[in-house]
Amino acid sequence: MMLLVVGAGGYLGGEVCRQAVAAGEQVAGTVHRTPVRLPGVPSYPLDLRDRVAVRDLITRLRPDVVVNTAYRIDDWAVTADGAAHVALAAAEAGARLVHLSSDALHAGRPAPYGDDVAPTPVYPYGAAKAAAETAVRAIDPRAVLVRTSLIVGDERSKQVQLCLDALDGRARLFTDEFRCPIAVQDLAGAVLELAAADHAGVLNVAGPEAVSRAELGVLVARWRGIDPARLATSRAADQPQARPADVRLDSRRAVGLLTTRLRAVSEIFAA
Ligand SMILES: NC(=O)c1ccc[n+]([C@@H]2O[C@H](COP(=O)([O-])OP(=O)(O)OC[C@H]3O[C@@H](n4cnc5c(N)ncnc54)[C@H](OP(=O)(O)O)[C@@H]3O)[C@@H](O)[C@H]2O)c1
Repeated sequence: MMLLVVGAGGYLGGEVCRQAVAAGEQVAGTVHRTPVRLPGVPSYPLDLRDRVAVRDLITRLRPDVVVNTAYRIDDWAVTADGAAHVALAAAEAGARLVHLSSDALHAGRPAPYGDDVAPTPVYPYGAAKAAAETAVRAIDPRAVLVRTSLIVGDERSKQVQLCLDALDGRARLFTDEFRCPIAVQDLAGAVLELAAADHAGVLNVAGPEAVSRAELGVLVARWRGIDPARLATSRAADQPQARPADVRLDSRRAVGLLTTRLRAVSEIFAA
């Protein structure tokens, strides 16, 4: 299987490449601003906003599978239009598409969200991820859209970095914003399983345990041997811009489909 990872320089993209190479797959990656050297992975410069460049690269490489992990939190042209460009090019090349989506497209509510719940975005990033899903599903109904949550692991995770910043007084973690974090290794394993499967449509792939961002900060503090009392916190409800507060993804369908175990966040940071 020849796999093209779009966003290979990113946290998830890098881990997908690493695991695919370890499994003996042929892997290529696209890079944007950050040059990366991944052993065994040729990299190709690509700006997703350039529809013709996306089409040219995918037509030239003819991958069996395209995994699109790329996004920019504040750029609609990358997150939404770019996802459509990748879906069009992958469909034209006959490649299976695994598109990475986000829990951020939900508004937030106390009840967990099933896989088939339609987006209800409350802020621009969530709206861009929702638009991306609509485009991908319309262009390629056979694509799988992986809705995931906070991606955690080591210090390269922006979520872990935010926790470390809050332990150092450089950021504040919300006590009233809940998510279901997932380990980058588990998510990459799930992505590669789905790359080789034929599941179509949206699939929630997140951890089984919901925590507030502040609770995540406490877990990271203990994992790093830092006093959790140093954690700076605040409330999402006090922020000027609306944010999705309580977003718990119900990933039971994924658990039934996948052999990769999706670990609870307290287990991930227990070691
Ligand atoms: N991180 C989370 O906690 C989280 C939570 C829920 C869902 N997700 C979803 O999971 C996926 C992976 O997240 P991640 O944290 O691994 O992302 P990441 O580390 O920020 O990587 C994103 C990648 O996208 C690339 N990119 C940005 N603009 C681009 C452009 N114009 N053209 C081509 N590539 C571009 C970046 O390259 P440069 O840096 O070189 O520009 C980077 O390699 C995303 O789809 C995200 O929406 C993430």
